Amino acid sequence: MAIFIACVSSLVLLLLVSRYVYQLLGNVRGRLPPGPLPLPIIGNLLDVAFMGLLLHRCLGRLAKRHGPLMTLRLGRVVVIVASSPDTAREVLQTHNNLSLVGRVPPDAWLGAGHAANSVFVLPPNHRHSNVVGDKTHVDHSDMDHLPFLRAVVRETLRLQMLVPFVPNKAATSVQVHGYTIPKGSTVIMNLWGVHHDAEVWPEPDRFIPDRFLGDKEFHFLGADLEFIPFSAGRRICLVFPLASRMMHVILATLLHRFEWALPRLAEQNGVDMSEKIGVTLSMANPLKAIPKPI
Ligand code: HEM
Repeated sequence: MAIFIACVSSLVLLLLVSRYVYQLLGNVRGRLPPGPLPLPIIGNLLDVAFMGLLLHRCLGRLAKRHGPLMTLRLGRVVVIVASSPDTAREVLQTHNNLSLVGRVPPDAWLGAGHAANSVFVLPPNHRHSNVVGDKTHVDHSDMDHLPFLRAVVRETLRLQMLVPFVPNKAATSVQVHGYTIPKGSTVIMNLWGVHHDAEVWPEPDRFIPDRFLGDKEFHFLGADLEFIPFSAGRRICLVFPLASRMMHVILATLLHRFEWALPRLAEQNGVDMSEKIGVTLSMANPLKAIPKPI
C-alpha cells in the first residue's frame, strides 16, 4: 500500500513539475512580456497579494523591476500589465478597436498610504480673488485666467487617481512592442503607473502643480498618453467634460468663498493620505477641512 501511495504521489509531483516547466517554456516560446518567476499552481499570487500594497502600487513597483509591459500569472489566469505612456498608447488606442475590447470586473485590494499633499499647500500668492472679483460664484469662463488652479486640479488627478487601473480582455492575440499578448488574457492598464513613471514625471510622488504650468498643454482627451486620469481611447470616461468642468468650478468657488483650515491633528501630523479602494480609490480617512466664510 505504501509503495502504491509513493508511486501515485511521485506521479502527481512529476505531472505538476512538467506542467510548470511546460508553462515556463511556453512563456519564452510565446514571446510573452517578461515578469516575475511564477510559482507552480499559484503563479505570481504571492507577488501581488501579500506585499501590503494596493494593487496599482504593487503593479507599479513590479513594473520598475520587470518593465512597462509585464506578464503575471494569477493562478491559471495570464495577466498582462501595461504601465507607461508608450504601452498605454498601444493598449488604449492602437488595439482598442478590435483586440483589447472586453471588460473584466475590477477587484478590491488592501490599503496603504503615501506622502501628505493637498490643496492646503497652495501658496497664498496664488489666491484668485483679483480674477473673480466680487462675484459669489466662479464661472467656467474664469478658468482661462486661473492657470494655477487648473494646474492644481491636474496635479491632483495625476497624483491621486480616482480610477487607478482599468482591466481589459484580449479578444485576439496581439503584438505589443515585440511581445505577444495572448488571446483570452487579462490586460490591466495601470493608469496610476503611467502617472508615476519617473522618466515622464520627475519626483512622481510629490505634489508639484508647477509641472502643469509650462508651455505644454495637458488635455484630458488622452492625446498625451502620459496624463490619462479619465483613461483614453474608446473607453474614456463618458462624462469627463462635465466632471472636469465641475471639479474646477467647485474647487474655485470653495476657495473663493471660504478661508480653509486643517483640523488640529492634521495640522500637526499632516493630512492622512492613506487610500482605500472600492468602486473608486478614495481617502481611507476622509479629511474634514474647516471652512471660514470670507
Ligand atoms: C474626476 C472625476 C472622474 C474621473 C477621474 C473618471 C475616470 C474614469 C475612468 C478612468 C474610467 C474608465 C475608462 C476605461 O474603462 O478605460 C471611467 C469610466 C466611466 N466613467 Fe468616469 N470618471 C470621473 C467622473 C465620472 C462621473 C461624475 C461619472 C458619471 C456621472 C462618470 C461616468 C463614467 C462611466 C459611465 C464610465 C464607463 C464608460 C464605459 O464603460 O464606456 N465618471 N471614468
